[in-house]
Amino acid sequence: MLCKQRSVMCYVLLPSCILFSTLFSVSSFDSNSQEIPTFGKYLVSLGSKRLLAENSGKYLVSSGAKRLLAENSGKYLVSSGVKRLLADNSGDYVSNSALILAEGRTYRKDPLNDFKRYTGGWNISEKHYWASVAYTGAPIFILAGIWFVVFGVCLVVIALYYCCCRRPPYGYSRIAYALSLILLILFTVAAIIGCIVLYTGQGKFHSSTSNTLDYVVDQANQTAENLKDVSEYLAAAKRIGVDQVFLPANVQTDIDEIQTKINSSATTLATRTADNSDDIKHLIDSVRLTLIILSAVMLLITFIGFVFSIFGMQSFVYILVIITWILVAGTFILCGVFLVLHNATADTCVAMNEWVQNPTAHTALDDILPCVENITAQETLNKTKEVTSQLVNVINQVITNVSNVNFSPVFVPLYYNQSGPLLPTLCNPFNPDLLERKCSSGEVDLNNATKVWKNFVCEVSSSGICITTGRLTPAIYNQMAAGVNVSYGLYHYGPFLVSLQDCSFVRQTFTDVHTTYCPGLRKYSRYIYIGLLLVSVAVMLSILFWVIYGRERRHRVYTKEHVPKPVGDFEQEKQT
Ligand SMILES: *[C@@H]1O[C@H](CO)[C@@H](O)[C@H](O)[C@H]1NC(C)=O
Ligand SMILES: *[C@@H]1O[C@H](CO)[C@@H](O)[C@H](O)[C@H]1NC(C)=O
Ligand SMILES: *[C@@H]1O[C@H](CO)[C@@H](O)[C@H](O)[C@H]1NC(C)=O
Ligand SMILES: *[C@@H]1O[C@H](CO)[C@@H](O)[C@H](O)[C@H]1NC(C)=O
Ligand SMILES: *[C@@H]1O[C@H](CO)[C@@H](O)[C@H](O)[C@H]1NC(C)=O
Ligand SMILES: *[C@@H]1O[C@H](CO)[C@@H](O)[C@H](O)[C@H]1NC(C)=O
Ligand SMILES: *[C@@H]1O[C@H](CO)[C@@H](O)[C@H](O)[C@H]1NC(C)=O
Ligand SMILES: *[C@@H]1O[C@H](CO)[C@@H](O)[C@H](O)[C@H]1NC(C)=O
Ligand SMILES: *[C@@H]1O[C@H](CO)[C@@H](O)[C@H](O)[C@H]1NC(C)=O
Repeated sequence: MLCKQRSVMCYVLLPSCILFSTLFSVSSFDSNSQEIPTFGKYLVSLGSKRLLAENSGKYLVSSGAKRLLAENSGKYLVSSGVKRLLADNSGDYVSNSALILAEGRTYRKDPLNDFKRYTGGWNISEKHYWASVAYTGAPIFILAGIWFVVFGVCLVVIALYYCCCRRPPYGYSRIAYALSLILLILFTVAAIIGCIVLYTGQGKFHSSTSNTLDYVVDQANQTAENLKDVSEYLAAAKRIGVDQVFLPANVQTDIDEIQTKINSSATTLATRTADNSDDIKHLIDSVRLTLIILSAVMLLITFIGFVFSIFGMQSFVYILVIITWILVAGTFILCGVFLVLHNATADTCVAMNEWVQNPTAHTALDDILPCVENITAQETLNKTKEVTSQLVNVINQVITNVSNVNFSPVFVPLYYNQSGPLLPTLCNPFNPDLLERKCSSGEVDLNNATKVWKNFVCEVSSSGICITTGRLTPAIYNQMAAGVNVSYGLYHYGPFLVSLQDCSFVRQTFTDVHTTYCPGLRKYSRYIYIGLLLVSVAVMLSILFWVIYGRERRHRVYTKEHVPKPVGDFEQEKQT
């Protein structure tokens, strides 16, 4: 009798014990991530959709971050000595007082530092940050451990019990039987709902991660393409003869140097993007596959276990229980991983936004991104304008002083028998003060000057003298075209280069990611861990009730066999 009492206690206590430890560990989990306590509610009101569509904006802007934003808005902080994308290294940093990114969100316990609060904010090169994020999954990892150990011990105890003190089952109670059946059905339904949540969640998670990745890859791709274009225009600099009329040698080497840098930046960007995006794509796809398989397997197991249990196939149930015991532990761990992932994603989203909002502050992101100060960027922009303008001036001087003048044959290198209609001059897009200038009539635009001038090229003799009408020899034309190309490249892509240099391009990208992609990423990573938690808890409880119901059922059958009943009832019972 005692033995039986104890095993009943075990049956009844184990589910409630696990349920309570879930609730306890989850609600005692203190973090600022306010979504965690909703697990508790979730377990109680299974399948409540309202909680899934939870208000994500609540902890989006933490009060700490708001305070910091207000404090720093007046200060002028300058970014630290970061790697420079382009040539310029002149900008020294004045101050390095730092803005802590996502401070409110990342104020968590740090297991690497005696569980003191971590205050460094979002910083992916800081191991304490990762430790504190990983710690947010601790309740679920602990739950997985508890489940694994406690249920394992229970299995051993049950096995021993069956070996040592097995006795004819008796003590059938109609209420216990009905209750266990109802709970079995309830948890089976809950597990099925969990599988559905998980399945739909993974679909949405996959598409939102893929879209984000595509957007970022596309941005990087465009940048690489632009850089390659710039590089091609600058390649023209190589064709500008040093011994010729214009473009001194030092300017040419300068341009060459810039081109090499741009070229290598473009190549690095393109290859890194390709490599990383391939890796991330594979990762996303395997996550998707894992989740699909997991939800399918869990659904199948729930169903099979339910059927086995209902039809009293005890030995199958026990095999299934052992398999599922391990699967549930694995699912809990996966759930913890997704919770950590969700928190890290949300931190990153907040950090990106704060970084965009505080362009002058020094933050952890500046260690990763090679941005220069705005002043340096403006100087670069000035320089590109200057070079453009000077090149145009040089070309125009050649046109007005050489090509368009009818020299007498004694002025040899200037005379090359130029004749015919006058060459139109090139439109300078900038005034001497580097402000934008409108072209006057009769000037040709930078983008089609080469096409227009093509009509003025003459045929030359072996000595390089025009033998047909025209004002440009092919050699001079090529050099002028090369000069135009360099000018055009700098004029057209200058602002783009500067936007790379001062990271305004990255800021725009981050803004887009924050507003367009972050809400989905956060929402659907939450879907997944809630789905995983729901599945694992529901399946966990289902397992218990497979066993409990199986036992009650055996007792019922035994009791019915030993307490004579009308024949019809007995037959009916045997058939089930
Ligand atoms: C000027 O640039 C265009 C586009 O990159 C290129 O196709 C063309 O060959 C270049 N011309 C010269 C003379 O370098
Ligand atoms: C720039 O890259 C192209 C290929 O995209 C290569 O052919 C060229 O030699 C490179 N130029 C320099 C200066 O590195
Ligand atoms: C950009 O993407 C297109 C198509 O996705 C690809 O063909 C091209 O090679 C990419 N460019 C770079 C520089 O990666
Ligand atoms: C980020 O972490 C690294 C490594 O600990 C540290 O050197 C760096 O100063 C941190 N950055 C900020 C802004 O705190
Ligand atoms: C840089 O300064 C210019 C004006 O000097 C301003 O128009 C631009 O928005 C600034 N860019 C950033 C990223 O602060
Ligand atoms: C850029 O050039 C303009 C006009 O010459 C000048 O007023 C401005 O100070 C320059 N800016 C920088 C950052 O050199
Ligand atoms: C070319 O013409 C400009 C005026 O348009 C004049 O100032 C300059 O000295 C001339 N240069 C040569 C080399 O003739
Ligand atoms: C050159 O381009 C300008 C503006 O881009 C256009 O107005 C003009 O007609 C073009 N000229 C030729 C010959 O294509
Ligand atoms: C100079 O060009 C004209 C055509 O414009 C041609 O008739 C003449 O023979 C050329 N003179 C020499 C010396 O080649």
